Amino acid sequence: MKIECNTSAIGVFDSGMGGISVLRDIVKLMPNERYIYYGDSANAPYGIKRKEEIIELSIKVCDFLVSKGVKAIVVACNTATSAAVKILRDRYSIPIIGMEPAVKPALNIAKGKNIVVLATPITLKETKFKSLLNRLNALERVLKIPAPKLVELVESGDINCTITKSIVKDYIKNIDMSEVGAIVLGCTHFVFLKKILKEVINYDIPIIDGNRGTATHLKNLLELQQMLTTQILETSYIEYYNSSKDLSMIELSKKLYNM
Ligand code: DGL
Repeated sequence: MKIECNTSAIGVFDSGMGGISVLRDIVKLMPNERYIYYGDSANAPYGIKRKEEIIELSIKVCDFLVSKGVKAIVVACNTATSAAVKILRDRYSIPIIGMEPAVKPALNIAKGKNIVVLATPITLKETKFKSLLNRLNALERVLKIPAPKLVELVESGDINCTITKSIVKDYIKNIDMSEVGAIVLGCTHFVFLKKILKEVINYDIPIIDGNRGTATHLKNLLELQQMLTTQILETSYIEYYNSSKDLSMIELSKKLYNM
């Protein structure tokens, strides 16, 4: 079967709602593409699961997206990227774009200070992250904070409430922020908590994520392979799917997209 490359949709997936923050940046950059977003909320959080399980779940989602005829897949999840991106790239012939915590840009703006990386336990534990730190010679400069509870808060739509604020506070309570030059959001869910984090740290520290970098990488790659669409869309086209039986997850996806 010949895939109609130009107008085929781009698949974007995450363990749940986090990837919506990546999707927003991708659509901003490529508003004329069509998108299929898959949130695996029935199985979230991924970040505390075994690697084998994350691989299995990621394959299931990608098989679904491929069955929908997508021309590329964005693994809009640092955790699934750490655990499964190599296997996904071997399995499918379409481009698979992953994510990684934005440590490099963070080091560049930290003015020699240390950086904090907030991510899921799996992302921080996996070899991919260790290799990144080794490559950047940054082992001594990175303070790793596994923050799995924040994923569940975003999944329940609790973005701006008091309980979320106190949980964020608790995760960072032992950090001397005057020693920190940048904070990296190494989990796509956390991007929705940026405002609250800013309030809680009460210091002028840049908080960065890898979303824009991923979107740019995707665009460059599709351009290079002549896979960008030539169509012009009047309004953006996004199809939402979610593994949860709770239909309100689709509503939450749309709400977060417009946040
Ligand atoms: N959004 C995901 C990430 O970027 C993971 C959240 C989860 O634990 O499911 O790592």
